[in-house]
Amino acid sequence: MIEAKNGVFNLATPNTSYIFKVGECGVLEHLYYGKRLDAFDAELMSNVQNVKICDATAYDKDHSLLFLDNLMTEFSTEGRGDYRLTSMKASYDNGHSVLDFVYETYSITHGIPSMEGLPSVYGDEFSTLEVVLKERLLPLRLRLYYLVSDEKDAIVRFSRVENEGSEDVYIQALASLQLDVPNPDWNLVTLDGAWARERMVCDRPLRPGIHINDSKTGASGAFHNPAIALKAPNATEFQGDVIGLNLIYSGNHQESVELSPYGRGRVLTGINPNTFTWRLKAKSSFTAPQAVMVYSDKGLNGMSHEMHRFVNENVCRGPWRDKERPVLVNNWEATYFDFNEEKLLDLADTAKDVGIELFVLDDGWFGERENDTTSLGDWTANGRKLPNGLAGLSSKLHEKGLMFGIWIEPEMVSEKSRLFERHPDWRIAIPNRKPGVGRNQYILDWTREDVTDYMIACISTLLEESKANYVKWDMNRFFSDFNTQGSDKYFMGEFLHRYVLGFYKVLEALTAKFPDILFEGCASGGNRFDLGVLCYMNQIWTSDDTDVLMRQFIQWGTSFFYPQSVMGCHVSASPNHQSLRISSIEDRFNVAAFGILGYEMDLTRLPSNELDVIKEQIRFYKKNRRLFQFGTFTRDISYFNGGNNLKWLVADEEHLVMLDACMLNVPNMPNDRLVIPLLDAGFNARGTERLLVSSRAQRIDRSRLGDNASKFKEDQRGLGLKTSVYAGQLESAGIVLGQRFTGSGDIRLTRIRPDFSTEMYIVDRMMI
Ligand code: GLA
Repeated sequence: MIEAKNGVFNLATPNTSYIFKVGECGVLEHLYYGKRLDAFDAELMSNVQNVKICDATAYDKDHSLLFLDNLMTEFSTEGRGDYRLTSMKASYDNGHSVLDFVYETYSITHGIPSMEGLPSVYGDEFSTLEVVLKERLLPLRLRLYYLVSDEKDAIVRFSRVENEGSEDVYIQALASLQLDVPNPDWNLVTLDGAWARERMVCDRPLRPGIHINDSKTGASGAFHNPAIALKAPNATEFQGDVIGLNLIYSGNHQESVELSPYGRGRVLTGINPNTFTWRLKAKSSFTAPQAVMVYSDKGLNGMSHEMHRFVNENVCRGPWRDKERPVLVNNWEATYFDFNEEKLLDLADTAKDVGIELFVLDDGWFGERENDTTSLGDWTANGRKLPNGLAGLSSKLHEKGLMFGIWIEPEMVSEKSRLFERHPDWRIAIPNRKPGVGRNQYILDWTREDVTDYMIACISTLLEESKANYVKWDMNRFFSDFNTQGSDKYFMGEFLHRYVLGFYKVLEALTAKFPDILFEGCASGGNRFDLGVLCYMNQIWTSDDTDVLMRQFIQWGTSFFYPQSVMGCHVSASPNHQSLRISSIEDRFNVAAFGILGYEMDLTRLPSNELDVIKEQIRFYKKNRRLFQFGTFTRDISYFNGGNNLKWLVADEEHLVMLDACMLNVPNMPNDRLVIPLLDAGFNARGTERLLVSSRAQRIDRSRLGDNASKFKEDQRGLGLKTSVYAGQLESAGIVLGQRFTGSGDIRLTRIRPDFSTEMYIVDRMMI
């Protein structure tokens, strides 16, 4: 609900209120963001000073108590006394850069305004508040948009600037969202990392000064995800105030969080101003990407639950949105570049036998590609490896009852390729300067219409001819040498943003043309894991790192803002190809099951008993697939702060599955207790209701039992727990579990919990 009364705007969602007002001199004063207020007095929330600040700049001599530097505002600019980082920076040819936007008017409409080539959230439930501001002197108008839903707590925001004059204006920064907060003692949570260790949670108190969370590599990046959270100091996973923010953009982003000398927090999120200047021509406008914010008083999980719902229902779209995603096999770590049709079909046969539904052919199938030095850009089958072409392979897979998926990296070109021979000027480079190179490859100039049009046509032909059901869209290098060699000579500060618009243009065209194809984003694993991508592709490859322990950290961090329905999670070989860590196939599955399951290993080389294990895993996963992919996902305890155990839950009203992972084995500890936070995880059971709790039957990895192996019977499985219990007891007292293995006593009665081991527990309602 959006309410505008006496210059006060009240944006009310089911559980939150966002309130601001037209303040003195037409400045938009931010008043409140937090738990829903059904009634309030705006004047009691105003931050305007009643005494002077000694050396600060007052707005003007008639408003000597209006200090922009110490006011919470909705939008800030430079040069009028606000010395924090500001929402907008712009300058004219003569260097003039002082801006002062004041309130003009507003409108409330049902629906969502057009985003002019940028991805947009969707949903009938949104109404939009548009607040129009006018520069006091210059011919510039600003529009601030607030999209408010009656069903969800997510509020989506963006801004648009219009040049109504006759001179060009250089826009050096335009934030999508500014959020001023009054709480200096809050923590900032970011997701930081790099290739193979994406989205590690970093949680620190805010300190005076500025923290920048950004990307400058051209994509949203693995260094710092655009999603951040602000959290009250006492907030936990389950309780306390948390504000989550995310940007719907796939290029360079910046989230700055500033704690001012007066103890006010300011968060700005948007396109990274460090790598962006847009020449705004006369009578034209520039739109910043959308950003989403969520407030919850139910801790980090409360924030995540809202974000997940929003991503599932207002970001992801198309026929695959609510469909259970297929279990896939990917040949990358099974074969790397060394395969032929026969080898692939062998893998496919084994995959089919164990219950896999989709076969994904990864890198190496096209042009002359035998390694990563050639052929990007030549999207036709390598005749030596695939004598019957893609269509031949695809039809054989379809005959076997498997779906066919194909890997492409359409944004790239190799120097050794037919495409590069024909169009050397299509690669991003500066004439007479040797361009930087990443993974032996170069980026195509997708700021150019002719290049993007060509690629839409080329990939369309590929998808039509191969009858692909799935696409893995990869992007494996950072940007350098920003420059276009096309005829449209725009201002080069615009290059990286124009590239992102080109990326969205191609995605928009291909996903519209092939609505039934399931697209999975990828960028050296999770180097472009963002809501912009998710507006077009329903899932993203979370990380190239499939190590059993690292994946727990990676999926933990990712789950703060992204639901498990968008996370590609594969079981791969042991020792792991990224970490060399040895782990059991059951533990790798137990972690991968909390996302979209795949297998990325040479199944044809596994012993038959391991294939039986996989068959059973897939049967179990399919039975619980809706829960694993779309159930409410909740984090419980973790390795953060020195813990040794981690717990995840997926639940709906009727079922719940819990992962219990243990990092290191410590002998001779007290019995573990199985305690499950049912209500907090979305499983709605009364305390006196009896529930059925069981453990997933897991095969014990005999190779880890050493000299004790012979004491186990061949078919001895897992923990074998199956009991009924009162819901209230399970939530509080729990069930005391059997003793862990310590090398003494009858080991057949002990629970084997070696390092990096996992167990899965299932809770069901009892049938009456
Ligand atoms: C990237 C991807 C991998 C794989 C390789 C192929 O690294 O993240 O999954 O597709 O490229 O070259």
